[in-house]
Amino acid sequence: MLPCQRHLFDIPEDVAYLNCAYMSPLMRSVVEAGKRGMARAEEFRATAARLLDAPAECVAIVSSASYGIATAALNLPVQKGQRILVLDEQFPSNYYPWQRLAEDRGAALLTVPWPEDGDWTSAVLNHLHDGVAIAAFPNVQWTTGGRLDLVRIGEACRKIGAALVLDLTQSLGALPFSVREVQPDFAVAANYKWLMGPYTTGLLYVAPKWHDGRPLEENWIQRANARDFASLILYTDKYDAGARRFDMGERSNFALLPAATRALKQLLEWGVEEISETAGALNRQLAAGALDLGFSSPPEELRAPHYLCLRRQAGIPEELPEILARKKAFVSVRGSSIRVTPHVYNSANDAERLISCLREIAGP
Ligand SMILES: Cc1ncc(COP(=O)(O)O)c(C=O)c1O
Repeated sequence: MLPCQRHLFDIPEDVAYLNCAYMSPLMRSVVEAGKRGMARAEEFRATAARLLDAPAECVAIVSSASYGIATAALNLPVQKGQRILVLDEQFPSNYYPWQRLAEDRGAALLTVPWPEDGDWTSAVLNHLHDGVAIAAFPNVQWTTGGRLDLVRIGEACRKIGAALVLDLTQSLGALPFSVREVQPDFAVAANYKWLMGPYTTGLLYVAPKWHDGRPLEENWIQRANARDFASLILYTDKYDAGARRFDMGERSNFALLPAATRALKQLLEWGVEEISETAGALNRQLAAGALDLGFSSPPEELRAPHYLCLRRQAGIPEELPEILARKKAFVSVRGSSIRVTPHVYNSANDAERLISCLREIAGP
């Protein structure tokens, strides 16, 4: 038999609590762990808010970009005959939810075609007409590095009353962004790329006008009484304040969330502007070297500095993966282009290594 463990619980001395089937009293250590979990979530929220240039109240903790886009799709109104606008070859997590929503509501899913001149901003602006209810875009097109001027696009959306939903997964943390300037309705980013955090965590900005909306999940932690562990089953219709109602279940993951917060803090210490400049300088050097070897890239004013896609008229030869592997140079090949996405851990030596691979392809 165990000796009485009452000292571990916060049970008043004059109470004989014999009601575990109704609800277990919580151990003091469990309450403390719970509070630490809450604090962990709030620390992530506040740090993410600084990167977004948004109030912490407007940030929800999510698992993925798709989770954030699904939340937006659940809440944004769109009627029969109206349009939802996306880019050609947009990343699937920011395409399928809109395809489904358009089907469900009898709306049309409209694609902004690939701009011949590489100017995605003008292409988008040309398609923002009355009848567009939702515009869902990235800041940086993921296969070309093409950059969208979200301040201008945001203005155009407000003019026609279209909601703006952003997938910032390929830009937040490496390209300056401000919610105050762009004024999106929803903006999401998965953490594991330019936010340098662990997989299965992400952040979602929700504009105040949608704070009364419906979360994807109905979990205990997003309800107004979540801080009082003793009253969790006194069910309440009220949610916690601001965008917290959109938090995913089990948001305070002990291993992942502190790691994600630490990564965001490091980005803020380095400065997003500085990260962009640093990656941009390396890419500029690479673009110049690659140009001499017969590769082309979108002009600097139309692409994001941290994102360089190199193309070659003759295409990418089959032996490229073997050459890259031999020289231990890591890039992605996407369709007919080589995607080069450096960060602050790269040096001129790394750039030279990649150029030497390209030189092998180009031949003598
Ligand atoms: C533009 C973009 N959005 C989102 C994601 C990830 O989406 P999810 O978090 O839904 O897996 C990626 C991954 O490559 C991406 O490139």
